[in-house]
Amino acid sequence: MLGPVILAASRSDRMRRLISAAPVTKQVVDRFIPGETVDEVVPIIEELTGRGLELTMDVVGEDITTPEQAAAARDAYLQLIDRLKDLELGTEAEMSVKLSMFGQALENGHELALANVRPVVEAAAAIGTTVTLDAEDHTTLDSMFAVHEELRKDFPQTGCVIQAYLFRTEEDARRLAASGSRVRIVKGAYKEPASVAYQQKAEIDKAYVRVMRTLMEGEGYPMIGSHDPRLISIAQELARRAGRKLDEYEFQMLYGIRSDEHLRLAAEGHRMRVYTAYGTDWYGYFMRRLAEKPANLRFFVRSMVSK
Ligand code: FDA
Repeated sequence: MLGPVILAASRSDRMRRLISAAPVTKQVVDRFIPGETVDEVVPIIEELTGRGLELTMDVVGEDITTPEQAAAARDAYLQLIDRLKDLELGTEAEMSVKLSMFGQALENGHELALANVRPVVEAAAAIGTTVTLDAEDHTTLDSMFAVHEELRKDFPQTGCVIQAYLFRTEEDARRLAASGSRVRIVKGAYKEPASVAYQQKAEIDKAYVRVMRTLMEGEGYPMIGSHDPRLISIAQELARRAGRKLDEYEFQMLYGIRSDEHLRLAAEGHRMRVYTAYGTDWYGYFMRRLAEKPANLRFFVRSMVSK
């Protein structure tokens, strides 16, 4: 029951101001967002890749309101890519981007977001790596898929995300699998109405399995974004049945969540990519992590009252 309330708060400016200003928030935030600057996050990148993990880097931020903020988001990614160049990690460190941070909701937002994300994809390709377009709320997805298709004309390795909770996703999965795309499947983290999305966990999980099957049997590169042990073992079985080798799909999990499992899967020979977010505009990302697990919220509230 708490999840939808927290997700509603994730879009509230008043809550954003309150929670961001609370002195103890930072300690709890650090568990999921291990730095605010590139300098703070480079040692984390080195540590995780040194342990056999791969990364997808997210500069936190979304729902910006001016073209200047969108340009700043683009520049933040370009700065990150510049630092990654020296680390020579290639596809071991790719980027995840949210188009709302690149201006998608502003006037002429589709064109603006495409114009801002293209230099990031070009810079990533120049250092031998890729970009994946995150999936945000359902109203943004037609634009995201159109940007994805446009970028793939020049950069076929550009990936995108699909969300199992949406009714539309099985059809999106079939189209993307047939086109040979890199596709991350996740359950979905936004508050969506019953007119477009499954609301029950069991239904979402079943849809997730159907989509995984489509991706594993298709021509593309499936990226299994989940911490759910049941779905991870079903993914392994589907991959085996589809005749995929260990490097023909990958697992992805979020930094700070089930870290032992990251290492276990990597030790088994799987490609294991850790979604690592950093930056100062962490509010929306942080609130979605609280919404996913009520125990996180209890921990957060306890640390506030014990101060
Ligand atoms: P589920 O929520 O059932 O969790 C399974 C288990 O994992 C839990 O029982 C718990 O042990 C652990 N767990 C999960 N979340 C936790 C948390 N926050 N804190 C502590 N433990 C937790 N969504 C989206 O809409 N668009 C996107 O682009 C992305 N991108 C993305 C990338 C990657 C790499 C991942 C892993 C996830 C996303 N997501 C996302 C988020 C996704 O939609 C979903 O909300 C979370 O992954 C939680 O769902 P699980 O599949 O982990 O299952």
